[in-house]
Amino acid sequence: MIQTLEWTDHGVRFIDQTKLPTEETYVVCTTHEQVADAIRNMVVRGAPAIGVAAAMGIALGAKNSRAESAGELKRDLDQICDILGKTRPTAVNLFWAIRRMREKFERVRILPIAQIKQELIEESQRMHAEDIAANRAMGGHGATLMPSEGGVLTHCNAGALATAGYGTALGVIRAAVEQGKKIHVYADETRPFLQGSRLTAWELMKDGIPTTVISDSMAGGMMKQGKIGAIVVGADRIAANGDVANKIGTYTVAVLAKEHGIPFYVAAPISTVDLACSDGSKIPIEQRNAKEVTHIAGKQMVPDGVSVENPAFDVTPAKYVTAIITERGIARAPYAESLLRLASAEAKAGA
Ligand code: MRU
Repeated sequence: MIQTLEWTDHGVRFIDQTKLPTEETYVVCTTHEQVADAIRNMVVRGAPAIGVAAAMGIALGAKNSRAESAGELKRDLDQICDILGKTRPTAVNLFWAIRRMREKFERVRILPIAQIKQELIEESQRMHAEDIAANRAMGGHGATLMPSEGGVLTHCNAGALATAGYGTALGVIRAAVEQGKKIHVYADETRPFLQGSRLTAWELMKDGIPTTVISDSMAGGMMKQGKIGAIVVGADRIAANGDVANKIGTYTVAVLAKEHGIPFYVAAPISTVDLACSDGSKIPIEQRNAKEVTHIAGKQMVPDGVSVENPAFDVTPAKYVTAIITERGIARAPYAESLLRLASAEAKAGA
């Protein structure tokens, strides 16, 4: 399996996603500031991977801390969490991970410092393992919704590279293929950062899953021609009412799906559900550097001085979402009820 990120004795090791698909290189971050930069600069990206990276960044910061008491370590952790929490605003898994690491610290703060640090390292590794297990469970639930054969469209990269492993949306596709379903993936290239053509295509090719890359503007045409039997995407934050923030362009795909009567599924772990966010209008949308739009591979594509927008995400209203696949089962409308039920339940088969 692709090692998106891992804890090592030397630091946190990431596959460098800015270099894929042409170079498979790895970077090792030895400080929490380096982990924060890796998240901000998209060396590691995708909501669940960002969450686990932040947890490991906190563990790394704690390990490097010179604090001699739990009180001093707490002050260092506050700073570390502050730096990591300012990297990317939309993926709620980041804030979920920071909260979980803080809670862990509070539970173990009575222990000797060396042991507190060890507990934090182990907690971040547990989150890594749990994320893979959640994706496998999600795959099991979601595979039942995939057609037995034909085209499945996905947007952005919600695969092994966006998680600790296996993937959310691509986990559903992987599980369906493992069950013998004959799926052909249509991967939207996903301008401007090209997560679909660079990353989704790369990891599906590695698995030998038939994949066709299309430009984002081709999606509607493919649906009209009957090439797409289902759509499955990931999410960066799901509001309590089922509105879904995901990579810019997801909304367009969802509206097109409705027009063509194609089911539109979202696969995401429960940690992506933000019950404190009543609806999608409350989800903060990250605005990224205009250069991601104006340049491709370092080459300028627009005239000097033209106005550019670069919101990294959009919000798909719940009414376009056929079902939300989680590790605890499948939620359907009304989402205010089904998501609440799943979020408050222990892991189980369905909702
Ligand atoms: O900007 P990115 O590449 O971090 O955006 C990623 C996405 O939008 C994914 O679809 C989402 O995080 C789900 S990943 C399992």
